[in-house]
Amino acid sequence: MNKIAQIFDSLEYGPAPEAADQANVWLDSKTRSFGHFIDGKWTKPGKTFASTNPANGQKLADITDGTSADVDAAVKAARAAFKGWSALRGYERGKYLYAIARMIQKHARLFAVLETMDNGKPIRESRDADIPLVARHFYHHAGWATHLDTEFPGMAPYGVCGQIIPWNFPLLMLAWKIAPALAAGNTVVLKPAEFTSLTALLFAEICERVGLPRGVVNIVTGEGDTGAAIVNHPDIDKIAFTGSTEVGKIIRAATAGSGKGLSLELGGKSPYIVFEDADLDSAVEGLVEAIWFNQGQVCCAGSRLLVQESIEERFIAKVKNRMAKLRVGDPLDKSIDIGALVAPVQVERIKDLMQRGVAEGAVVYEPDGQVPAEGCFLKPALVTNVSPANTLVAEEIFGPVLVAMSFRTPEEAVALANNTRYGLAATLWSENINLALDIAPKLKAGVVWINGTNQFDAAVGFGGYKESGYGREGGREGMGAYLKPVWKKGLKSAAVSKAIATKPANPLDGGHLDQTAKMYIGGKQARPDSGYNRPLHGPRGELAGEVGDGNRKDIRNAVEAARAASGWANTAAHSRAQVLYFLAENLDYRRDEFAARIKAQTGEDGTSEVALSVERLFAFAGWTDKFDGAVHNPPMRAIAAAMVEPLGVLGIVAPETNPLLGSIGLLAPAIAMGNTAVLVPSSRHALSMTDFYQVLETSDMPSGVVNIVTGDSLALAKTLAEHDGVDGLWFMGSAEGSAMVEKASVGNLKQTWTSRGLDYDLADPRFAGDYFLSRATQVKNVWIPYGA
Ligand code: NAI
Ligand code: MG
Repeated sequence: MNKIAQIFDSLEYGPAPEAADQANVWLDSKTRSFGHFIDGKWTKPGKTFASTNPANGQKLADITDGTSADVDAAVKAARAAFKGWSALRGYERGKYLYAIARMIQKHARLFAVLETMDNGKPIRESRDADIPLVARHFYHHAGWATHLDTEFPGMAPYGVCGQIIPWNFPLLMLAWKIAPALAAGNTVVLKPAEFTSLTALLFAEICERVGLPRGVVNIVTGEGDTGAAIVNHPDIDKIAFTGSTEVGKIIRAATAGSGKGLSLELGGKSPYIVFEDADLDSAVEGLVEAIWFNQGQVCCAGSRLLVQESIEERFIAKVKNRMAKLRVGDPLDKSIDIGALVAPVQVERIKDLMQRGVAEGAVVYEPDGQVPAEGCFLKPALVTNVSPANTLVAEEIFGPVLVAMSFRTPEEAVALANNTRYGLAATLWSENINLALDIAPKLKAGVVWINGTNQFDAAVGFGGYKESGYGREGGREGMGAYLKPVWKKGLKSAAVSKAIATKPANPLDGGHLDQTAKMYIGGKQARPDSGYNRPLHGPRGELAGEVGDGNRKDIRNAVEAARAASGWANTAAHSRAQVLYFLAENLDYRRDEFAARIKAQTGEDGTSEVALSVERLFAFAGWTDKFDGAVHNPPMRAIAAAMVEPLGVLGIVAPETNPLLGSIGLLAPAIAMGNTAVLVPSSRHALSMTDFYQVLETSDMPSGVVNIVTGDSLALAKTLAEHDGVDGLWFMGSAEGSAMVEKASVGNLKQTWTSRGLDYDLADPRFAGDYFLSRATQVKNVWIPYGA
């Protein structure tokens, strides 16, 4: 029989290798030995490590392990370049980004092959996904650069950005970081991951060739220590990191108190939900994309299959059938589905996790057939018979391992989906659009894909909730992450208010006070758990009143009440506005009383502070139904609805000054956006806010939305920062207090905003708008395909 007839008979695939010659020629032209790219020049290779091809273990090149002196030289170059680069017209910067995009398109094949050789991912993916998305990102941001002045008025670049990226999408993560940074006028020092430096170095040569001003992009290669040197460098203004949650937490702690901007894109354990009315065959194809794309080494991999019980057996059978047809092998072969994992250490890590899961009762299915004996290959695996506590359900595996569980009702699906410390992405399949659009907002994840998965576009923000990090990459949100308000430069240190000389308290002095002001938790007045009160003093040191001395237990109760009130987020914006308007009205009604209270505490006429507080409530009532999302049109048959969602439970530690406005100015934007709050008012002048709960009680505010705990601000801030039930924390106070709050926030990586001892004057109209609104919210992008 001739060959073709034979093939028809067996339907065997023949090899279809992509040629590696171009990539090899480029590597040879560099003598396969690389220094860093600093200030537009190549440094001599220093102490090096090997970059290898994980598909065959062959060394590709020697890469320099960056020292702190190297990082310092790169930061100096970036600093020197900043002035000129940021002063260029946006149009001029846009042209450079456009030139980069064009060059990447022109050399797409070289980039794709080099990426596949260094990383092990199938050429089909680097060619059709990674590199086209890289080019798209530079095009998109060329546009942002051009329109920056009109689209982001009053905003300025950070300065020098330190960027640290992982190995799973080496060039794509570089693009996600460098394109917006440059568009905004920042300069960068970027460190690729140690396993995959090559396409970043090729990119450096592209920068050279398009004549990018020297020092604008600096590439320093190296391992974790080099990354740490970037994180800790004092002359870097912002850190952007993508990688493991573990390292993300180290970076959060390391940058605490430094004032550096920070965005983190971390791990995930994303649910993939299949409802009984889904198009099952499409859902199977989607699943292949969700968990076997890039060997499962994807931060947003749909690694937890949740399938409705009624179709579980049928669906799992289809999945197994499909798994048996996945081809594992040479990544440069164009008909390969699953390539090599990035490095032996990752293979070991995955095997280790699998063993632990099996010891805990998991059952693993792998299809028959062989994988290449050499190289970092693993078969696709399906894990069943697991409880939510199983290691394989809880931990990010970062490999070709799918874990399956079932659910009965949509409510149960949501509960299981959200039962994770992560919140990067979620996928759901259903032919019922009502069900799909009902579920999507309930999933705590930064991206939700309906009837599709792993869709990305430069115009659509990407990033996580919870321990998957904060900040977005792509879209308007992503641009915003590389800009800061110009007025921030002008902030002075806040005057430290002098301690007042208090008169020794005669225990009987309190007698004339009608009562000790209680705290306010879950809509009820609450006595402090400690049983102790704090005396508060007026401007001349006289006793002005007493409030409860709140402690850890009171905070816990308040957080519990705030969590129980989460329905506030789903209350219609119009209804939230009504409550805020009513608050304004009732406060205004009692303005004389509140002004007198301010005077009694601070000695200052409180009239205008009360008036401004009323105005703020009014202003944010007006914002509830206006600070909303957008609909993007990515280049495919889909829309992406960018929904603005509240963070959840927000801790607010108000400044010592401005007893009323200091709290209202922060509380109003938080609750306007649907957050529930635990408020710690000024510890010195707490009485304005303990008076305020009477206003809350008469304004139809649902219980638990606003909770007030009085006491020592710093101690309560620490408890809030450490509490895993708190999703965000705003702290207005000293630089040391701010550093403490940021450091203590690492437990659940809650989003923090701190004033760092600077004089944020809440009376300024700039705080009546989007500054705090954007900090009270996060954007979820819901992808909705269309077409029959
Ligand atoms: P990693 O988080 O250590 O590496 C990411 C980047 O951070 C690399 O460039 C690395 O050199 C750098 N880095 C390491 N330690 C650092 C430090 N102390 N300061 C600053 N930079 C530092 O991830 P790794 O060890 O390569 O992979 C381990 C696991 O992390 C994976 O199995 C996976 O679960 C997870 N991971 C998640 C990623 C994601 O995109 N969500 C990407 C890479 C890894
Ligand atoms: Mg490599």
